[in-house]
Amino acid sequence: MSNSENQTPLVEIKDLSIAFGGIKAVDHASLDLFPGEVVAILGHNGAGKSTLIKILSGAYKRDGGEIFVNGEKADINNPRDAKKYGIETIYQTLAVADNVDAAANLYLGREILTSYGTLDDTAMEAEARKVMGRLNPNFQRFKEPVSKLSGGQRQSVAIARAILFNAKILIMDEPTAALGPQETEQVGQLIHQLKKDGIGIFLISHDIHDVFDLADRVAVMKNGKMVGYAKTTDVTKDEVLGMIILGKCPDGAIPGPGAMQEA
Ligand SMILES: Nc1ncnc2c1ncn2[C@@H]1O[C@H](COP(=O)(O)OP(=O)(O)OP(=O)(O)O)[C@@H](O)[C@H]1O
Ligand SMILES: [Mg+2]
Repeated sequence: MSNSENQTPLVEIKDLSIAFGGIKAVDHASLDLFPGEVVAILGHNGAGKSTLIKILSGAYKRDGGEIFVNGEKADINNPRDAKKYGIETIYQTLAVADNVDAAANLYLGREILTSYGTLDDTAMEAEARKVMGRLNPNFQRFKEPVSKLSGGQRQSVAIARAILFNAKILIMDEPTAALGPQETEQVGQLIHQLKKDGIGIFLISHDIHDVFDLADRVAVMKNGKMVGYAKTTDVTKDEVLGMIILGKCPDGAIPGPGAMQEA
């Protein structure tokens, strides 16, 4: 599935399946991710991308299959389990609290307290500046409510929050769908920084143009099945479109169980 030799994957998904009623939303899907790697999960609406990563992040309980983290079988049954394994998800509908500032967002639900039990705003802001400084050095709007920030800045707050939670595996569902070109560029820079820190990233998108240039590999889903896997250097965008639309696997890709069989 991957060409990264002699390295243990950060995460390995094996044969995951889930059905809703009669619909096999995810059907024996396998996928791996290595440190510092960006893997784009592509496919049409309803292909099963979000459902797959919701299993990985503990939001859905799988019917079958296994998940390994750093080579060891991971027992992921709820979002808390997933976080324990360093798996953090940034959903399309960014889970940021609009009415409070960046620092408060980063520590929402696990605030730093002083020895008197009051909120240690100084410590939280200092930490926030440290993490944000690494991700997005231009960011200065620490005192403003997050609602005032641009889409790209909000994205960086959400990512910083995940990093503070010790994310090793970051899942971003349609990260740039709602962003303009400049902000998309900014998210690209964020991803670059995260890669340098050895974090593995799953980028989910139904639009190849949003993610192809950011990804090291693509994994294409269709009707819940994996059509195939390819390094972005081994295939063209058109070939990947053929995988998405027709389920047709080009020479540069490794076919999965959902690949169209040649007549
Ligand atoms: N909670 C649910 N209950 C019933 N069916 C569901 C549920 N979640 C997903 N599905 C179905 O599973 C299939 C895969 O959906 P999923 O949301 O994973 O697709 P997707 O690839 O993320 O699509 P999109 O690009 O639209 O986000 C669809 O047929 C969808 O209707
Ligand atoms: Mg989706």
